[in-house]
Amino acid sequence: MRLNIIKATFILLVIGVIISCQNQETIDLQNYISSGKDIYKAKCQNCHGENGEGLGQLAPPLTDSVFLKHNKNRLACIIKNGLNEAITVQGKTYKEKMPAFPELTDIEVAQVMVFVTNAFGNNQGFVSYQQVSSQLQQCK
Ligand code: HEC
Repeated sequence: MRLNIIKATFILLVIGVIISCQNQETIDLQNYISSGKDIYKAKCQNCHGENGEGLGQLAPPLTDSVFLKHNKNRLACIIKNGLNEAITVQGKTYKEKMPAFPELTDIEVAQVMVFVTNAFGNNQGFVSYQQVSSQLQQCK
């Protein structure tokens, strides 16, 4: 009997911890998305469009989750350091150069990245700024 109570208490405790972690992550996700949206409007929207539709041949769309998913671990570096290589997004090749944003802090890179990967039909979930910081240290 006593053992069952201990077991039940333990299980409840574990469930409680899981639920509170998930809630914290949902709150963080919402915060990152709303800050990221402001950064996007200020720094990215001119080229990538209000709805991530891109700008003709000049800037690729951000609505293609294939590129974003395949390059998940590179996105932070692309956002911070820009990009200058031919890439294919939604079957089209883009060759223009994306500028670097050295003024963005690690947390701002994380926020705008989480916004982009959870807007425009994307749904990649949360990435913490600690994860982004360690990705940024390994940019090639
Ligand atoms: C001056 C125009 C310009 C601005 C401003 C700009 N980009 Fe880009 N972006 C580009 C171009 C051009 C490419 C493709 C670069 C290449 O082919 O080397 C690109 C590529 C990307 C990619 C990878 C390709 C894709 O479609 O998924 C991401 C992600 C991205 N940009 C995010 C951002 C974010 C976030 C910002 C704001 C912090 C931003 N860009 C600001 C022009 C821009």
